[in-house]
Amino acid sequence: MANIIEKPETITPRPNLPDYDETYRTFEWKNAYDQVAWDDRGRLNAAESAVDRHARSPLKHKVALYWQGADRNEEYTFLELSNLSNRFANVLTSAGIKKRDRVFIFLPRIPELYVSFLGIIKTGAIAGTMFSAFGPDGLYDRLHDSGARCLITNSSLKKRVNEIKGDLPDLEQIIVVDETDVAEGEISYPEAMKKASDTFDVAMMSPNDPAFMLYTSGTTGKPKGVVHRHLAIVQQHMTTEWVLDLHDNDIYWCTADPGWITGITYGILGPFSCGASVVVHDGRFDPDAWYSVIEQYRVTVWYSAPTAFRMLAQAKDAHKNHDLSSLRHICSVGEPLNAEIVHWGMRAFKLPIHDNFWQTETGGILIANYPSMPVKPGWMGKPTPGITAAIIDDNGIEVRRGVEGNLALKPDFPSLMLEIWKNPRKHAEYFMGDWYLTGDRAVQHEDGYYLFIGRSDDVINTSGERVGPFEVESVLIEHPAIAEAGVIGKPDALRGEIIKAFVVLGDDYEPSDDLESDVRRFVKARLAGHAYPREFEIVDALPKTRSGKIVRRMLRAKELGLPIGDVSTLE
Ligand code: WTA
Repeated sequence: MANIIEKPETITPRPNLPDYDETYRTFEWKNAYDQVAWDDRGRLNAAESAVDRHARSPLKHKVALYWQGADRNEEYTFLELSNLSNRFANVLTSAGIKKRDRVFIFLPRIPELYVSFLGIIKTGAIAGTMFSAFGPDGLYDRLHDSGARCLITNSSLKKRVNEIKGDLPDLEQIIVVDETDVAEGEISYPEAMKKASDTFDVAMMSPNDPAFMLYTSGTTGKPKGVVHRHLAIVQQHMTTEWVLDLHDNDIYWCTADPGWITGITYGILGPFSCGASVVVHDGRFDPDAWYSVIEQYRVTVWYSAPTAFRMLAQAKDAHKNHDLSSLRHICSVGEPLNAEIVHWGMRAFKLPIHDNFWQTETGGILIANYPSMPVKPGWMGKPTPGITAAIIDDNGIEVRRGVEGNLALKPDFPSLMLEIWKNPRKHAEYFMGDWYLTGDRAVQHEDGYYLFIGRSDDVINTSGERVGPFEVESVLIEHPAIAEAGVIGKPDALRGEIIKAFVVLGDDYEPSDDLESDVRRFVKARLAGHAYPREFEIVDALPKTRSGKIVRRMLRAKELGLPIGDVSTLE
């Protein structure tokens, strides 16, 4: 195996997965059930397991959440977080929220986000999160499809909600977290919380009852609602221990926003369940500010993404101005982690960055470089215990090691999505025979490590965030000058991919700088920041199949000067 990094002798990993082969061979999920809290009728609640059980244990006065905002910092112990989320659960039940109702959160990374997420789950309702950069279209798609009854937001983000509220008949309650700007009919979070009791009878749920949902992009159509069950907490707990190596004396920083799955599974549920202290930094990316978080809180375990590491690497010696000696373990997810960045990490932090792979739909890590194993830079690692992974061909037949194919999994693990909200047909498309298909292409090496090759569909991964080309195209064609649009991911050294849009103008329009700026403004106002195309190109026509579908792979091949491939089905 070329280029393995053995762990430097100066670090003492405290791996929770002492022997991978042995654990992998003998592990069964049911043997891990006792890692979370059950009642005597075989029911559980993910928020109870994450926080409340620690509020009854010797960890109760330990800080669960260190929050760093722009102009103030706050700390919450497990007991405080448990009491606050109880209060919020009472606020929701007084507002008439019942089990299985969808309650969505549209907030920046402030403590109220964490309190309300846990509070919603405690009532047995389904918690949904939306990234604070979403524009009205993204909000509408999610709130409308889920039939959300209640939304928690703040006074500045509420303006975007007001634009679409009239078209959301199911949305009955809006809870506003600020003291001011609470309109008639809305609930003031501070007032309601003051009045609510801090004891709450947590709704104990069946393992397969839904706990939270979030929307993710595929190739076609609007984003799909991926629903996760309460039982997922078992896998979220185990993988946090095995892969992130979290112990209850760790200070842990996950840079992902809870608007995405990483910010939920490994920003809230997994680390709290392991009794770790979680650091939340509510601020934009900035190398000095980021290194200061590690320095100030003495962060021991850090989970981030390749684009962020690449940006930090570009900041050259910025790390030298900070004491980062508290760090003992670093992990990365979301997009391919280049070998060069792992080597940069060795120079900057004297630690390897551990890649791992998973998806919104799988709710937890599937493949990883473990603390207990040598890191193979550029490779994603090996399956977690309890996960059967394989590379299969397009007929569902397993291929030999060393051969590229579709990365597939046996769908028998607890954190695999329960359903796609109100869309069983879409859910069924993920499965072929005995396999769940990730939509990714990969290779397994003789030694068992997996290498990521790319998506098997047109889904774009820009800075680790998943964007469906259809969503971007739909917004583009709303502009009066644009007749047709095709959108692709174009390889980019920093962001993995950037979004490039090819557009065909309507008959009455001529290309001009003014038109281009107008289109850019139009799209920016409607799409979340990350989904905004950084490049535009006006073309006379788009490549299409005979049935009229845009063939994005041809746009991509042309853009990259690659062979165009089979054109027999094209117009
Ligand atoms: C990609 C994020 C290469 C992959 C947790 C997957 C990766 C999609 C890696 C899921 C990795 C994730 N190396 N590619 N280590 N991890 N991906 O749903 O294409 O936002 O299917 O979940 O990101 O993105 P999602």
